[in-house]
Amino acid sequence: MKAVSYRGPADLRVVRKDDPRIEHPNDVILSVTAAGICGSDLHLYRGLIPDTRVGHTFGHEFTGIVEEVGPSVRNLRRGDRVVVPFNISCGSCYFCQRDLFSQCANSNPNSELACGVFGYSHTTGGYDGAQAEYVRVPFADVGPMKIPDDVSDDDALMLADIFPTGYQGAEMGEIKPGETVVVFGCGPVGLFAQKSAWLLGAGRVIAVDHVDYRLDFAREYTCAETVNFREVDDIVMCLKEMTGGIGPDVCIDAVGLEADGSTMHTFLGMRTKLQGGAATVIGWAIDAVRKGGNVSIIGVYGPPWNLIPIGTAMNKNLTLRMGQCNVKRYMPHLLEHIREGRVDAQGIISHRLPLDLAPEGYRMFAGKQDGCTKVVLYPGRMAEA
Ligand SMILES: NC(=O)c1ccc[n+]([C@@H]2O[C@H](COP(=O)([O-])OP(=O)(O)OC[C@H]3O[C@@H](n4cnc5c(N)ncnc54)[C@H](O)[C@@H]3O)[C@@H](O)[C@H]2O)c1
Ligand SMILES: [Zn+2]
Ligand SMILES: [Zn+2]
Repeated sequence: MKAVSYRGPADLRVVRKDDPRIEHPNDVILSVTAAGICGSDLHLYRGLIPDTRVGHTFGHEFTGIVEEVGPSVRNLRRGDRVVVPFNISCGSCYFCQRDLFSQCANSNPNSELACGVFGYSHTTGGYDGAQAEYVRVPFADVGPMKIPDDVSDDDALMLADIFPTGYQGAEMGEIKPGETVVVFGCGPVGLFAQKSAWLLGAGRVIAVDHVDYRLDFAREYTCAETVNFREVDDIVMCLKEMTGGIGPDVCIDAVGLEADGSTMHTFLGMRTKLQGGAATVIGWAIDAVRKGGNVSIIGVYGPPWNLIPIGTAMNKNLTLRMGQCNVKRYMPHLLEHIREGRVDAQGIISHRLPLDLAPEGYRMFAGKQDGCTKVVLYPGRMAEA
């Protein structure tokens, strides 16, 4: 089969690989119909995640058609059209039973920190991803959700990661009706956090970024007010002034470890790697949010220590919540928002490309070129284009 293959930082190629096989009775093999490129893939692409191995295939957001079914699989049949959560979960361990699917104890048992994830580094189990013609899906009775006939692959694909992730970001903010929510980041996750803030009753949504086309897109797609942090003297003061001097009720970090905007954090987190990424946005969120407010962190950070103002958070009586998305928990509910027309999920896609053009797709998304908001690859449909 054809598959994306990692060769080293900023070097991906589309190569021929062996087709995946059933390795366990609970596996299925999917032929991939659509595979997204995620902001989390960019951390891999730039060589920032430990143990990202040469030859690995990325891709943790995908839809596909069931081609082969392991002998123990009960819920799926050949020909079923499915969307699969990015985290691999067993469905029966202590954590899965509590809907903490991102903390599954069985899909990456050698790690205390992360469950198995498709197409991520070997720290998350080393499972090959779906930016390929075929992918093996373990625990196939647990993750995959059948896509109803009236829902397109493009809409369903958004349920594999970014819509649930943005939604969990907003949910962890515990937004009360009418509250003001600031979302840092207007990438795909930030955009879905903004949409979800409205769904959860926000009265005002303010989006922060420094890429103008993304701020323009946020105003149109999520109806948020926007602030370019490079155009104001001090983003924390600006957000306080916009909220009567008190500060927003909820701040959501949808940026994570590659944040711009602070020379110190960029030096500590990106250049010298003395901390697990640039913790710029966590600091801004803690400083800007009102006393007694909520900070929700959905952007990814590395596990080593990070310089964050925990004393400020403590003294302001803040609630901090954070985590990897428990995708499976949200899929059915968010599917209904799509079906009932409340959320145009695929409206976020700016570029649709054949698998062969994956390296260009990465370059465009990483370089924020050509108005890129989301790239989707179609291994089957346009494979020879
Ligand atoms: N927790 C989870 O389960 C989960 C799942 C998916 C993605 N993520 C993470 O969410 C983050 C966002 O993902 P994405 O796909 O939207 O990525 P992205 O890279 O497309 O978007 C990030 C955006 O943040 C902006 N930005 C940079 N510095 C900023 C700052 N200081 N303030 C405000 N905005 C700033 C960038 O310009 C960019 O538009 C990534 O860290 C990704 O790894 C987490
Ligand atoms: Zn992702
Ligand atoms: Zn489990």
